[in-house]
Amino acid sequence: MAEKLVINGGIPLRGEVDVSGAKNSALVLIAAAILSDEDVQLDNVPKLTDVVTICELLRFLGAKVKIDGNTVFINAKDLNKNSAPYDLVSKMRASFFTLGPLLAKFKEAHVPLPGGCAIGSRPVDIHLKGLKALGAEVSIEHGMAIVKAEKLTGNKIYLDFPSVGATENIIMAASLAEGTSTIENAAREPEVIDLANFLNSMGARIHGAGSPTITIHGVPKLSGTRHSVIPDRIEAGTFMLAAAATRGSIIVNNAQEKRLESLISKMLESGVKIDILSPNRLKVDATQRIIRAVDVRTMPYPGFFTDLQSPMVAFLCTAKGTSVMYETVFENRFMYIDELNRMGASIKTEANLAVIKGVPSLSGAPVSSTDLRAAAALSIAGFAADGETIISELQYLDRGYEDFETKCLGIGGRIKRVKITEEIKK
Ligand code: UD1
Repeated sequence: MAEKLVINGGIPLRGEVDVSGAKNSALVLIAAAILSDEDVQLDNVPKLTDVVTICELLRFLGAKVKIDGNTVFINAKDLNKNSAPYDLVSKMRASFFTLGPLLAKFKEAHVPLPGGCAIGSRPVDIHLKGLKALGAEVSIEHGMAIVKAEKLTGNKIYLDFPSVGATENIIMAASLAEGTSTIENAAREPEVIDLANFLNSMGARIHGAGSPTITIHGVPKLSGTRHSVIPDRIEAGTFMLAAAATRGSIIVNNAQEKRLESLISKMLESGVKIDILSPNRLKVDATQRIIRAVDVRTMPYPGFFTDLQSPMVAFLCTAKGTSVMYETVFENRFMYIDELNRMGASIKTEANLAVIKGVPSLSGAPVSSTDLRAAAALSIAGFAADGETIISELQYLDRGYEDFETKCLGIGGRIKRVKITEEIKK
């Protein structure tokens, strides 16, 4: 049954919140487990619908997968299919992460093209170019990417854009290739480093993850492992911005300062006080502070994350002055802005620019999420706004935020989830 979130805003958030494991790491690590025939145990996996979807996909392919709380056990020894079904891939683009591992394992893989999504057209040309460079024959037939290679051979691969997914798919395939591969202009995101560490713990030989040049010396096989997923920097950033938007003060546990530098620097520039209590724990304090407008440009890591673009815009609605948000990574990531304007925000968009005029107060309203991070942005606005905000289309939020309401309640947020048939007070 469909559900809505009811938020009564207008009070500063206060307290402590713990950040869960990173969704974007967990999804690729689960796909990477295909590469081994031995037991893989992943800890600190967030309980999210996207995680359930990728586990379902691995089960469909023949792997044994067990989810036990925040731990996922995988054994892909009996994997017997190399073709992913369209309904699972269309549900979640990250299913495309299975392409590289399936190719490495079976010498042939069929995965449907994921198509566009709510934040824009999301091609996979860079993934395919990379696999081709490793010796795969690539074709597109009936909406399906088909890759075949008798043998994968290491090669030099330059990425036209530091795509996170393409870097990860190429790393996975190259881990079992013959010889050495070098990825130039590789994505530097922390999730790429987590993947390299995970594969190295299985016997892979990957160097340079986190830098623009990654070298992968292929190995004949990968063993089992136990690995803990890194904390979710996007979730950490969402809570930091929520606290600041409500002029509250919270401590965020498992927030890794060095992976949040772009956000911390922009929040400091706007006037928020941030104390680094330890490398994994920080305090955000916006109590009685004057928050000023700042301009932001999203970029590949270590630039400002596109995934925090909409939460940042929600926060900037509460700032004094006019901010400009320039989205350079995805072309259609402003769909939520009409919803924020319905809450009293004053935002204009032109192509990939949003001009945000800060307003003295936002006002609660019924709004609808358009994608995962839009749902987070509307929640932030809801906590900052006077009165009641009712957010629908929660399937997006549930893809990326573990125990969202419980965590918000823990920092004083007035929030509840109601079934759509339940009477909602107007
Ligand atoms: C990942 C993250 C997503 C994040 C994004 C950028 C996961 C599951 N998702 O998505 O949350 O917002 O990184 O940090 O990890 N592109 C191409 N051709 C390709 C691949 C990408 O043109 O073959 C373009 C995309 O259309 C987009 C840009 O490159 O404009 C960035 O995409 P990419 O880095 O690949 O993002 P994802 O891996 O899909």
